[in-house]
Amino acid sequence: MARILITSALPYINGVKHLGNLVGSMLPADLFARYMRARGHEVLFLCATDEHGTPAELAAAKAGLPVADYCAWMHGVQKRLGDGFGLSFDHFGRSSSPQNHRLTQHFAGRLAEAGLIEERSERQVYSPTDGRFLPDRYVEGTCPNCGYAHARGDQCENCTKQLDPTDLIDPRSAISGATDLEMRETKHLYLRQSAMQERLDAWLDGQTGWPVLTTSIARKWLHDGDGLRDRGITRDLDWGIPVRKGDADWPGMEGKVFYVWFDAPIEYIACGAEWAEAQGLDADAWQRWWRTDQGAGDVRYVQFMGKDNVPFHTLSFPATLMGSGEPWKLVDYIKSFNYLTYDGGQFSTSQGRGVFMDDALEILPADAWRWWLLSHAPETGDSEFTWEGFQTAVNKDLADVLGNFVSRVTKFCRTRFGEAVPGGGEWGPQEDALIAELQARLAAYAAHMDAIEVRKSAAELRAIWVAGNEYLQAAAPWAAFKEDPDRAAAIIRLSLNLIRLYAVLSAPFIPHTADALCAALQTDDRAWPDDVKTALTALPPGHGFSVPGNLFDKITDAQRIEWHDRFAGGRG
Ligand code: MF3
Ligand code: ZN
Repeated sequence: MARILITSALPYINGVKHLGNLVGSMLPADLFARYMRARGHEVLFLCATDEHGTPAELAAAKAGLPVADYCAWMHGVQKRLGDGFGLSFDHFGRSSSPQNHRLTQHFAGRLAEAGLIEERSERQVYSPTDGRFLPDRYVEGTCPNCGYAHARGDQCENCTKQLDPTDLIDPRSAISGATDLEMRETKHLYLRQSAMQERLDAWLDGQTGWPVLTTSIARKWLHDGDGLRDRGITRDLDWGIPVRKGDADWPGMEGKVFYVWFDAPIEYIACGAEWAEAQGLDADAWQRWWRTDQGAGDVRYVQFMGKDNVPFHTLSFPATLMGSGEPWKLVDYIKSFNYLTYDGGQFSTSQGRGVFMDDALEILPADAWRWWLLSHAPETGDSEFTWEGFQTAVNKDLADVLGNFVSRVTKFCRTRFGEAVPGGGEWGPQEDALIAELQARLAAYAAHMDAIEVRKSAAELRAIWVAGNEYLQAAAPWAAFKEDPDRAAAIIRLSLNLIRLYAVLSAPFIPHTADALCAALQTDDRAWPDDVKTALTALPPGHGFSVPGNLFDKITDAQRIEWHDRFAGGRG
């Protein structure tokens, strides 16, 4: 039994996440966590809301709430939606937790002691009316490129030109509209990543077998241009983790906070501390996952994220951990994803374009979404959500293949033999052939799951479902029953056991359905099969069951058209 630490990139707090966010980290991380638990490993699966930075402030302002209240509320919303999708986090924490405040300040202190932090003065937009420095997004004005009147200090939304606040014509504060903006000196802390270049390079060299998507992005940042840039890790904002050097004040840094991308990954660790506290455990309980001097050397740590997050996880966060000079656990494998697009365009949080987690659960059960998203995970390239493709996958794979098998087998048994596994009859060549095929497919499925090849795993699972359907069709117990009821009993006994096997194998993908199947079969036996033949005798003759309700409703053309239109306009 191994110990596996799994983290998903932390979803921003600034609203309900869309399906692209879900499939880019949280959902595949859940798939892997469920699978590893099913294989008997000890798993710690952590995620949290990423609560700092200007997106949080802007979302709170839009909602008319103080930012702390907004974050507390939205954390609850995201937690409930995660539960609805069956995301099996051991803890869903918050980057604003006291644990993360302490740990972030601790790391900053250690990095400073190691000489890896530099103070730099720079000039930034200050608004006397608002009494604060304005980050780029808080400065608005006319675009020098296209004349658009509402360009932001980082970018013009109209012509997409990248801007500096000083480029804007007639700049004003996005908070108050004040135009008396001035440039003021301000001091910030920089993490000297450039001084860590060689250590990071050596560490990356030692990572074998990482997905190309992950390593190519990391190498590009490490070697392109002038190499790794030093990075500002503080901001002039109110909301965030106050800049301190461990427990001590940081002279000159009063009123400043750490940059969100400095504290967010540290929350992976702090979330472990939150988890331990919530479980009533002591510090050893989380440190054995996170400190190599406390046993974390045996842990395999796997991170899941979208490709835009890769540089922060291959370079910045390891620089923080290594630079501290303390024995923190570094990631062993990074699984990264491309983007999911929506019906010919991008999912967009700011424009409300696409299907969001709350909408999704309102119209269909979580497992329908989980199945489509995972079987179309954007691994080798971007993938596209279309309502037609979604309808096809749900209707064919889930309803016609899996659902139909379960329904035919259980209903036929109820009618002919009653609601218990029938005895009598022998397995013959058809069963031997099926078992041989399933044994081979099981090995392939497990190999793909071990390698976190999500789409290949889904394809193999689908083939396992198909094999059962084809067997049933060929063995035709309804025909056999007329001549030889014992033969029909043997077929149905195998088939009922196959439903249990399906529940076990499918649970990482469609956990709610797996629960429903196990409930119908009145079994808690979820042991991962080694030997298929043995696994197909788990439910002995006489074992009671009930016919489950319809597992998957088909998506009708009318529904497909309705949803397509409903989600075309954005959520306003
Ligand atoms: N909130 C970021 C995003 O959605 C991810 C943060 S991951 C962590 O892109 F490393 F910061 F935790
Ligand atoms: Zn413009």
